[in-house]
Amino acid sequence: MDLFPRKLWNTLTVKQLRLQSRYMSYPQPAGYLPLREAIAAYLQLSRGVSCSPQQIFITAGYRGALNLIAHTLIQPRDQIWLEDPCFPPSQHFLSQIGAEIIPVPVDQEGMNIAVAQELAPNARFALVTPAHQSPLGVTLSMARRQMLLAWAEQNNAFVIEDDYDSEYQYDGRPHPALASLGSNNVLYIGTFSKVLTPTLRLAYLVVPPHLLTSFNAVCHTRQDGCPLLQQAVVTDFMQGGHFARHLRKMRTAYAQRRQIVIESLNQVFDSRLRFDIPAGGLHLLARLAHYEDDVALAQLAREHGLGITALSARRLSSDCGKGLLFSFANETTPENALKHAQLLQKCLPTASRSSN
Ligand SMILES: Cc1ncc(COP(=O)(O)O)c(C=O)c1O
Repeated sequence: MDLFPRKLWNTLTVKQLRLQSRYMSYPQPAGYLPLREAIAAYLQLSRGVSCSPQQIFITAGYRGALNLIAHTLIQPRDQIWLEDPCFPPSQHFLSQIGAEIIPVPVDQEGMNIAVAQELAPNARFALVTPAHQSPLGVTLSMARRQMLLAWAEQNNAFVIEDDYDSEYQYDGRPHPALASLGSNNVLYIGTFSKVLTPTLRLAYLVVPPHLLTSFNAVCHTRQDGCPLLQQAVVTDFMQGGHFARHLRKMRTAYAQRRQIVIESLNQVFDSRLRFDIPAGGLHLLARLAHYEDDVALAQLAREHGLGITALSARRLSSDCGKGLLFSFANETTPENALKHAQLLQKCLPTASRSSN
């Protein structure tokens, strides 16, 4: 947040407000066309996703996109493969709409597609975070991507690709988006929350051409549209070349912050806390010795002002082990990172231990 281009944002907002009185009227439910055009160009360039602006629906955040998918395609009791552990809002959303969640274990290659096929071969959907699995951070391998898409094609199922933070890849090249691999069964969701700010509440859904009629029908009866001023400012930001520059700046800053956090953890902790260096994303997962109660520890850490969550709180049914999830996005100085690591160390001996 400290690196958000406030001044420029202000200038672009004032410029848009001066331009015309259109901000006093209702926005288009599917989104502001110039923003949809800018996103189409961006997706082609950065994610290899070829789509027309008409295939893009601007939504109120990630849940807005899920909502549109749910009202268009998901029936109560439809089976949906969901990564286990998962992003809790996805689980809550799917439970609320009455879908049958099929928890699928995740390993080093991402969602285990072979296991998913055994558990529920006739599922209608799979919801995945292929770039950096939320919360384990692993990347869905190319072999698994192909298996997943082949399954979807053979079963007339849909893959919902939650591509929430693929822009942040520090080591190696990012894998291509599932939506770029030539399948007609992928519903792609992107968001401006990680690349700009979550206060915008702007995300987008890309749907395959053959579904456009049904998505448009639902969109026009169910969506209010997102605030036009916000959409126009984001459009100017993208079209003016600021977005690409901002992304480069954030990627460099986050890579440095990742390093700062790693160094401070290495300095403070011994083998009681182990972690892999994440190749991308904004989180680091530190594993605890198996007897630690990560939920109690995360709770205690939060009471000390640290933004830490417990890995086991994000499991559905498989045993993903115990660990602590840290965001390194706001760790701006080595001094602060060290202070936070020391605070966490103080929590470790006092947190209760589970009996197993
Ligand atoms: C796994 C995952 N998906 C999607 C999102 C984006 O959600 P939204 O667009 O509502 O901010 C996030 C943001 O934290 C996330 O962690």
